[in-house]
Amino acid sequence: MRRREALSELSAGARRKALIDWMRATTAAALGMAPERVDLDRALADPGQLFVLIRPRALADLELALYNYDLPFFTSLRAAAEHLARELAPAPLPAAPMKKLYGGGVWAWGPVDRAFASRLDRPVVFILSATRTGSTLLRVMLAGHPKLFVPPELHLLPFEGMGRRRLMVEKLGYPWMCRGLASALLDLGGLTPQQANAEVAGLERLDAPVRQVIGRLQDAARPRVLVDKSPSTAQHPAWLGYAERAFQNARYIHLVRHPAAAVESFVRMRFHRLLGRHWLVWDENPWLYGEKCWTSANLQILDFLRPVAADRQIRVSYEELVADPRLVANDICRFLGIPFDEALLAPYSGQRHTEDVEGMGAAMGDPTFLTHSEIDGSLAQRGIRSGVALSFGEVTREVGTLLGYPL
Ligand code: A3P
Repeated sequence: MRRREALSELSAGARRKALIDWMRATTAAALGMAPERVDLDRALADPGQLFVLIRPRALADLELALYNYDLPFFTSLRAAAEHLARELAPAPLPAAPMKKLYGGGVWAWGPVDRAFASRLDRPVVFILSATRTGSTLLRVMLAGHPKLFVPPELHLLPFEGMGRRRLMVEKLGYPWMCRGLASALLDLGGLTPQQANAEVAGLERLDAPVRQVIGRLQDAARPRVLVDKSPSTAQHPAWLGYAERAFQNARYIHLVRHPAAAVESFVRMRFHRLLGRHWLVWDENPWLYGEKCWTSANLQILDFLRPVAADRQIRVSYEELVADPRLVANDICRFLGIPFDEALLAPYSGQRHTEDVEGMGAAMGDPTFLTHSEIDGSLAQRGIRSGVALSFGEVTREVGTLLGYPL
């Protein structure tokens, strides 16, 4: 049994003890001291330092990704361990299937009505998907293609100006949304991480128009085509609509995954902690929140793509992608009008910006991406194999049927 699953199945008391033992051993090893000398109850002078130290170990040993949400619980080693033990407890299944998809959501990102100047005519591709659908894997596969430029999540399209973007992500607690751009600049401009971060800060100070920043990325990447994989785009129908209003001939890859697997992954990875409650959908229950995220994103993408010409969109399933990557990669290359390249099948080779510019582990996207070393077909069914019997709401079943996942 995997350590994560074993921990979830313990009683609350036994899990707490296991986490305290783990915290003591991990801290002792990191600081090079004897475990019995670790003081679990001393108030931490610099919680952030412990957080950064513990984070990669929690992912490797416990399969637990830590987010900004967790930091305030790091007041002492014992408090941090107790918090992690609580977070590893199985999330309670909902008492009843989801009824109102948009019930509970409070949109906090401000007005979405916006004027657009003339549309950019350079080619661009968007990977559109709900969270936990294998989008990081697809991004990194495509990043190996010499004719494509596929940086980590940019999260640019929803915003008009860089200053406002920074303001919003700081106010709502999503600073990680700004990290992918530094990776992109670093790659294109041959910059150091410090220079790339300074460049982003400069653009934010000037409140540079996002349109200009995207245009600049496209110019610098030329002749490679920019491929944007930013799951935030699917969070609002208007944000999706910006793609057609900002670009003349955008192409779209709609990546889908079975909802049972995507929702199980959402809950296991605690994406309710990462995403919080600032979107069109929300639920206190992590299973329902995961389902709402999957259903709303896919529903919005389907609606958005309906009037888009057939030759500008392709649907790709994660299950097929990992079962037969060569076949699916060939389909995608044909769709994009580029020759197939073997590099697509080797996502863990070469420089593909899979690590964060600030050395914070994996680049934005799937926190577990670097815990694998190849395209692993066995991961596709993981959530379904986990045996969680979720009863999906009616609208989820409808969207599932439309996407080829009868529930
Ligand atoms: P699980 O959590 O079910 O394992 P996203 O990048 O959209 O957040 O998707 C995350 C999912 O992609 C995870 O699902 C993860 O396992 C899967 N994934 C990441 N790297 C992979 C790889 N090398 N092979 C197969 N699947 C991978």
